[in-house]
Amino acid sequence: QIDSERFLWTEENVACSLPVRKPSSHKGSHGKGLIIAGSRTMTGAPILTAKACHRLGAGLVTLALPDTIINTVASQLIESTFHLCPSVNGEINSLNLDDELMNRFDAIAVGPGLGRNNNGEFIETLLHDFDKPIVIDADGLFYLKDFLTILAKRKGTTILTPHLGEFAYLINEPIAKVEKNRFQVSRDFAVKYGVYLVLKGPYTVVTTPGGQQFINTSGNPSLAKGGSGDVLTGMVLALLMQQKDLQSAISNSIFLHGMAADYLISHEYSPLSVMASDLINIMPKVLNSIQ
Ligand code: APR
Ligand code: MG
Repeated sequence: QIDSERFLWTEENVACSLPVRKPSSHKGSHGKGLIIAGSRTMTGAPILTAKACHRLGAGLVTLALPDTIINTVASQLIESTFHLCPSVNGEINSLNLDDELMNRFDAIAVGPGLGRNNNGEFIETLLHDFDKPIVIDADGLFYLKDFLTILAKRKGTTILTPHLGEFAYLINEPIAKVEKNRFQVSRDFAVKYGVYLVLKGPYTVVTTPGGQQFINTSGNPSLAKGGSGDVLTGMVLALLMQQKDLQSAISNSIFLHGMAADYLISHEYSPLSVMASDLINIMPKVLNSIQ
């Protein structure tokens, strides 16, 4: 603990709060998650997010994709199911999900690889019509900027996972200013909008809607590569469906993500070579090494 509002999140915290599977459980007990992601030029992002979500124990994962990329994505993902969205120029244009269908999911993650060439109205629809947890990442955050008043009024939990650049854009401040005051700016935003804010980078900071801050202690620069953020989004979605305490679920995902990178570079991988998919593939061993 650093002060009354700031805490470090360590392996010890993870060890005593990770979900344990009960013998009587079934797939419904572990959450039904929807991932809205991908576009014609970003077909890997939805694959990484969905695989990471499976690896962290989600019961069922459905991917909502632009209809035009289903073949490419589905050929690499045999555990997920798919929902096809009408697309314009290779990007999702609307969700094609009514209220009832949408609310069958326990949580939704939206953003990886969406692209930024549509109006993002479907983000507005989600914020309005889905009352359970939503994780917003990457291009989802880009669109979110137009709907901040709706975000503030949302009843369900929202978790935002920006890197410094995405957060700076969202709050209209220069990146350097955000970097210098990252604790203060992320707390101001989280409290004002009532969200969990995950400000990513070395020592990722999680701020709760109440303003408490949890600093991650795992990870290394091998994570500084496209795709590692997409993996984290899938991990957060998986754990938040399986753990009651949301802050623990979020901080545990971030710790395990960093720990996977640490594990790889201490087991024969060069930090140059670690790829996002390696993080997913090593996760079973990382989880088993937690003590
Ligand atoms: N040390 C520890 N962790 C790091 C480091 C580092 N030096 N660098 C990056 N990470 C971690 C971050 O904390 C985060 O969890 O790797 C992850 C990177 O996530 P993103 O920045 O979201 O990266 P990703 O989305 O995979 O990359 C593509 O980069 O240029 C942007 O906006 C563009 O969306 C695109 C993104
Ligand atoms: Mg990202």
